[in-house]
Amino acid sequence: MALAAWFLVLGISAAAILVHGQPGHTMTPAKSIVDGQSLISSGGTFELGFISPGDSNNRYLGIRYKGTPVKTVVWVANRISPLNGSTGVLNLTGDGNLVLLNSTGYIIWSTGTTNAINPVAQLQDSGNLVLIERTTKKLLWQSFDHPGNTLLPGMKLGWDLRTNLNRYLTSWKSSSDPSPGDYYYKLHTDAVPELVLWRGSVPMYRTGPWNGGGFNGIPETKTNNMFRFNLTSNKYEATYTFQVLDNNIICHVLLNETGVVQRLVRSKQNLAWDPYWWFPKDPCDTYANCGANGVCNTSYSPSCDCLRGFSPKSPQNWKMRINFDGCVRRTALNCSSDGFFGLQQVKFPDTSNATVHGNKSLKECKDWCLKNCTCSAYAIIEGSGCVTWTGDLVDIRLFTEGEENLYVRLASSELGQIRDNYGKKKLVNVIVVIISSLAGFLLFVCFIQLLRQKNRKEKQGETIITHYRESRGNELELPLFDIHTIRTATNNFSEDNKLGEGGFGPVYKGQLEDGEKIAVKRLSKGSVQGIHEFTNEVSLIAKLQHRNLVRLLGCCTEGEERLLVYEYLQNTSLDYFIFDRKRSALLNWQKRLDVIIGIARGLLYLHQDSRLKIIHRDLKASNILLDKELNPKISDFGTARIFKVDQTEANTIRVVGTYGYMSPEYAMDGIFSVKSDVFSFGVLVLEILSGKKNRMINQAEARVNLLGHAWRLWTEDRCLEILDEAVGCTYPESKILRCIQVALLCVQEGSEDRPTMAEVVLMLSTESGLLPQPQRPGFYTATPLMERNSASSNKITVTIEGR
Ligand SMILES: *[C@@H]1O[C@H](CO)[C@@H](O)[C@H](O)[C@H]1NC(C)=O
Ligand SMILES: *[C@@H]1O[C@H](CO)[C@@H](O)[C@H](O)[C@H]1NC(C)=O
Ligand SMILES: *[C@@H]1O[C@H](CO)[C@@H](O)[C@H](O)[C@H]1NC(C)=O
Ligand SMILES: *[C@@H]1O[C@H](CO)[C@@H](O)[C@H](O)[C@H]1NC(C)=O
Ligand SMILES: *[C@@H]1O[C@H](CO)[C@@H](O)[C@H](O)[C@H]1NC(C)=O
Ligand SMILES: *[C@@H]1O[C@H](CO)[C@@H](O)[C@H](O)[C@H]1NC(C)=O
Ligand SMILES: *[C@@H]1O[C@H](CO)[C@@H](O)[C@H](O)[C@H]1NC(C)=O
Ligand SMILES: *[C@@H]1O[C@H](CO)[C@@H](O)[C@H](O)[C@H]1NC(C)=O
Ligand SMILES: *[C@@H]1O[C@H](CO)[C@@H](O)[C@H](O)[C@H]1NC(C)=O
Ligand SMILES: *[C@@H]1O[C@H](CO)[C@@H](O)[C@H](O)[C@H]1NC(C)=O
Repeated sequence: MALAAWFLVLGISAAAILVHGQPGHTMTPAKSIVDGQSLISSGGTFELGFISPGDSNNRYLGIRYKGTPVKTVVWVANRISPLNGSTGVLNLTGDGNLVLLNSTGYIIWSTGTTNAINPVAQLQDSGNLVLIERTTKKLLWQSFDHPGNTLLPGMKLGWDLRTNLNRYLTSWKSSSDPSPGDYYYKLHTDAVPELVLWRGSVPMYRTGPWNGGGFNGIPETKTNNMFRFNLTSNKYEATYTFQVLDNNIICHVLLNETGVVQRLVRSKQNLAWDPYWWFPKDPCDTYANCGANGVCNTSYSPSCDCLRGFSPKSPQNWKMRINFDGCVRRTALNCSSDGFFGLQQVKFPDTSNATVHGNKSLKECKDWCLKNCTCSAYAIIEGSGCVTWTGDLVDIRLFTEGEENLYVRLASSELGQIRDNYGKKKLVNVIVVIISSLAGFLLFVCFIQLLRQKNRKEKQGETIITHYRESRGNELELPLFDIHTIRTATNNFSEDNKLGEGGFGPVYKGQLEDGEKIAVKRLSKGSVQGIHEFTNEVSLIAKLQHRNLVRLLGCCTEGEERLLVYEYLQNTSLDYFIFDRKRSALLNWQKRLDVIIGIARGLLYLHQDSRLKIIHRDLKASNILLDKELNPKISDFGTARIFKVDQTEANTIRVVGTYGYMSPEYAMDGIFSVKSDVFSFGVLVLEILSGKKNRMINQAEARVNLLGHAWRLWTEDRCLEILDEAVGCTYPESKILRCIQVALLCVQEGSEDRPTMAEVVLMLSTESGLLPQPQRPGFYTATPLMERNSASSNKITVTIEGR
């Protein structure tokens, strides 16, 4: 005992030597801690002692990281009752009460524990200060049960149902005043568990419901090889914790004074903290930013839109882009005959009024919702099963990744009403059908107001629908499928066969009688385009034949029904592979080069080798489908535009496409040409080589995107560092360098400096021949685009064509 006391006085240095020894790590009733002394955790990570956070003059008893120059404080005992001067004493009473006294012996703070036998206080290496009975090991009290503004790994947020204790984070008032500020970060367990950030009684942000692997609203932070997130829900507790899996990383979650939840990380060698993730991050994170039944999509501006079948409550406000105060149904529901439409890649709406029904199939869940007239939406959420909502749907946002769908109830008359305007237009050139994704629908509704005015201005160009196919024998005519064949193949367009919802209607998976798998695009009804025009147009498009373009097998028209039949590609799209740690291992260097060259050839064909000259305008990883052998096929011509063969450039007031892939002149001035596709191609090549998205790289330097990163490595002659680890370590260096150089040439700022696709194919398929030195890329910082864009928003409207 005397030995223990002695070490305690010696404090830090002694404890550091005796890493596993008792002295310095524990505190017993015989000994107190005064200002200047500290209790060290067993591994030496944390210390408990007297501190003055920020530039405060007061003293507090707190736990902080030990040893680093910035001794970040993670917990404070006497948050609301600071000590005046260095006179505080921490005593442990014989019956187990840990008390903090000021110089007049007044109790400033205590754990309030009593009746313990042989108590001992101990700072664990997790940062948890525990009070236990030495002999029985019974836990009397722990600091993890009384969180401050910091969530350490292993610490639980949420309910201990046996003691009815709810643990949540509260912000500090300021960096030098740890008393509770305005913000709370709490686990809600009303229906599906989710974390909610509050300011007083106003919700500020939701993480979205727990979906098994993470929170639905933070798709980027699913369990990965750095962190594991865990939600435990049983009769004893409903809690959330996380753990750090990588031993070189130190991490905690901080609710800071301005109401931002930050996940801070640093490596053991690194002294400064970096925010790995934080929120609220963008306007769509703000709770109910668009009001009830609104949908937020940051990718376009303005970010608010109404759910399909709803229209703004105050159209004037929405037009002026102020005070998005929600949307109301256009058509009242008729309980018996309603239907649903699916919204993909969503952050689910507020679940506080939702109901959990447990394990049910999608069909059972739908049936339940349909039967109950108050049910306004349903979804399957992993971990909870079927979930239904009633009344207004609040705080929905869209992501560009994720697999979760929300099915929203609509009057049947609204369901058939989304239609493309194209039929009405005169066919100047010919074109295009959308295959893929949900692109479209929301934007479509979103800009109807604007389009009503602008549509008239731009009469030319931009007409329909895509497609192409490889030759099937020598037949020149496009096969017409019989509607019954299609119905049989798709199980009568059953919900289970649905692959997704594109801008022009849903896509279904199907199987023909001979076993061939197909994807069927069902164009929305209501198009006024005649059968003749439709088939004419499709067969023209179908004459585009190339192994690197998705193949159109045929079409079908019957009454109002317009269907396009494509080959079915089982390996989905490129982004599914390259941005995923596990799957990217399937793509070694050679495979990646093949993919790059394949895309280049497909694009070259569109640009100059087909009979038409086609600018794709939305080339990106998710628009490259892969077949069984992982051969790339360009898809989604929803935005493509056909040029006259001698035309080189065009201007549009409607910029369509995806940020991150758009060339500067296109995004800012609406000028597009084959060179804007070349730019997108360059971005895509860098993404394929690095396995990283252009818009998400290097949290440490949030303002540098992949292009900027690649450019810097290039100028510093460290190019190979950009390579995805999954590529492995055996590869031909010179070839990779060449590939990177070609990519950098493609993303140069000046469109005239960029090579044509023909030159690109040549450069990629030869190994000799000197390449030009690339100039600085366009858009090599991550954020300015948005800023510049909004500055010139009178000029640019990002949209797709509406009706
Ligand atoms: C705190 O502990 C010290 C040393 O054990 C003792 O001298 C002192 O009286 C204690 N103070 C109180 C208020 O119990
Ligand atoms: C703190 O201590 C100083 C000096 O002992 C004294 O002047 C001051 O009034 C004290 N403040 C409070 C709030 O007790
Ligand atoms: C100790 O705390 C009590 C209660 O806050 C206060 O009245 C007293 O002045 C404090 N003593 C010192 C020396 O600060
Ligand atoms: C994570 O959760 C599972 C069950 O949900 C539980 O069995 C496991 O012990 C938890 N792990 C940790 C480290 O809390
Ligand atoms: C809180 O975090 C945000 C995001 O990292 C940061 O911008 C802000 O400055 C922080 N506030 C304080 C008071 O540190
Ligand atoms: C609801 O739809 C059914 C079937 O279409 C129709 O018979 C009924 O009149 C409708 N009810 C209302 C209130 O519109
Ligand atoms: C939940 O229901 C209550 C009571 O009807 C209502 O005040 C509240 O706005 C609803 N919350 C949401 C998110 O719909
Ligand atoms: C859910 O139900 C399906 C069949 O309805 C069953 O196969 C599955 O095992 C169930 N899962 C759980 C977790 O109960
Ligand atoms: C319909 O759903 C609401 C809310 O979930 C529930 O309170 C009500 O009992 C349900 N009605 C029927 C008939 O199932
Ligand atoms: C949201 O924006 C993204 C931009 O990348 C777009 O692809 C997507 O189609 C938009 N979602 C909807 C439903 O409009």
